[in-house]
Amino acid sequence: MSAKGWIHLPRKEGMTSRQAHADLPAGSYEREIGRDGFFGPASHVYHAHPPTGWTSFEGPMRPRAFNAVAATHEGTGPFNATPLLSNAAMKLRIWSVDRPMRDLTRNADGDELLFVHQGAGDLFCDFGHMPFSEGDYILMPRGTMWRLEPSQRTVTLLIEATNSAFKLPERGILGPHAIFDPAALETPALDDAFKAQQGERETRVVVKRRDALSIITYPFNPLDAIGWKGEIAALKLNWRDIRPVMSHRYHLPPSVHATFVADRFVVCTFVPRPIESDPGALKVPFFHSNDDFDEVIFYHAGDFFSRDNIKPGMVTFHPSGFTHGPHPKAFAAGAQHVRSSTDEVAVMIDARDALDMSEAACVQEVTSYADSWKSP
Ligand SMILES: [Fe+2]
Repeated sequence: MSAKGWIHLPRKEGMTSRQAHADLPAGSYEREIGRDGFFGPASHVYHAHPPTGWTSFEGPMRPRAFNAVAATHEGTGPFNATPLLSNAAMKLRIWSVDRPMRDLTRNADGDELLFVHQGAGDLFCDFGHMPFSEGDYILMPRGTMWRLEPSQRTVTLLIEATNSAFKLPERGILGPHAIFDPAALETPALDDAFKAQQGERETRVVVKRRDALSIITYPFNPLDAIGWKGEIAALKLNWRDIRPVMSHRYHLPPSVHATFVADRFVVCTFVPRPIESDPGALKVPFFHSNDDFDEVIFYHAGDFFSRDNIKPGMVTFHPSGFTHGPHPKAFAAGAQHVRSSTDEVAVMIDARDALDMSEAACVQEVTSYADSWKSP
């Protein structure tokens, strides 16, 4: 597999716009057919009907939505939560904890990215102490020992980069300080709170390796660092520190919101931003067939401007294989430029390999989701 060698074939047939996502031929619906996420070759087809104007789906492939927070695993161990969506490269879990974790935990299968949907408290890990609150991403390098002491019930989304590591995306022509300044990444401190939790009490470390849990017991608390140095550490980034990229004249693809990348998937964050103001620019996401990726969005807060009836705590899952795009009401509101800004906060995962949806997610499924694009 190589990023090079694509057949470069820019051709035009019939009526098209001059610029993707702007000034579409009158009454047409633009669909982007793209490879390699939003980075590879693409074509735009101008349709007479909305590409989401289906009347039914039959068979196993369909747009799916489920109430993730209703599938939350409650307990002091994050890795007792069953994955809701998974493949060989990624696992998505949701977990809640309302009391201090008794044991330390460690994911030996890959880096773990926590996104705090609700709650606040303190994190203790190999690298020290770090307070956390709603809207934080906490990146736990593979093998880090950690535990949480929540000060209130805390619900987190857990994203495992199986056998891989989270990195920052290429920032290219945007420069190194978009979409957040790397200096905004916070790391734990060896502070008084960290020292206060040290001691000679027996401590268990629950290790997840090859998806099975093992326990290592120490006669002392192994979070006993007196110092550390280097380039690996737990990190924290709140969505409020993300400065989204946008163009007033052109709807940028979701990949510009890439926050962390792993080998076979990318994590993007949708945060509040102005809506395009150019009269001819699309004001909602363009219809697209992202044919190489399965797309997952976890809705954290706000009003989801391209979707109807999606509430915070829900997940939508669009496997590749069909075109998706804004719901009819959102599309109409966009065409009339009803809103000038979005207030949504969401975490998107684009996975290069097909994802499986578990039974735990299926029982919370909104089975009518595929019908939600039907015009009222
Ligand atoms: Fe999409």
